[in-house]
Amino acid sequence: MTPLTILRYPDPRLRTIARPVAAFDARLRKLANAMLETMYEAAGIGLAATQVDVHERLIVIDVSETRDQPLVLINPEIIWASDETRVGEEGCLSVPGIYDGVERSVAVKVRALDLDGKHQLHDTEGMLAVCIQHEMDHLVGKVFVEYLSPLKRKRIKTKMIKQIKDELA
Ligand code: NI
Repeated sequence: MTPLTILRYPDPRLRTIARPVAAFDARLRKLANAMLETMYEAAGIGLAATQVDVHERLIVIDVSETRDQPLVLINPEIIWASDETRVGEEGCLSVPGIYDGVERSVAVKVRALDLDGKHQLHDTEGMLAVCIQHEMDHLVGKVFVEYLSPLKRKRIKTKMIKQIKDELA
């Protein structure tokens, strides 16, 4: 499979708000599989459909060290988030080479559907909880650099635009 193209910050399409997934069919399964392969290929731990220019509420995640525990969350909703937060370093496949601290809840409970349209409840903490929050932000058009200061964000934007230009040159 050819990996899907991952949109790069500051591509305006990353700001799109995704709509709920409505049909649990072969197309959805194919998309989820393609996203997982793209994520593994890019050595990422999560990918939101928004990042591959599909604006539906679907995220894929694998935070396991063995890279064999894929999670597909469809129409995810955070139903509880811990008051306790922590600042952890994050990166993003749409902002390659940039890592910075973001404050997130240390634990979240998430309701989502699986590829068969069945309800699942994920009681998560640590890296998985952080990854889910990061990926769900993408579905509402938010990239993690938006949590950083305007100055940092401006520097990152300039760096990304230069990186893309250099690759095309
Ligand atoms: Ni990301």
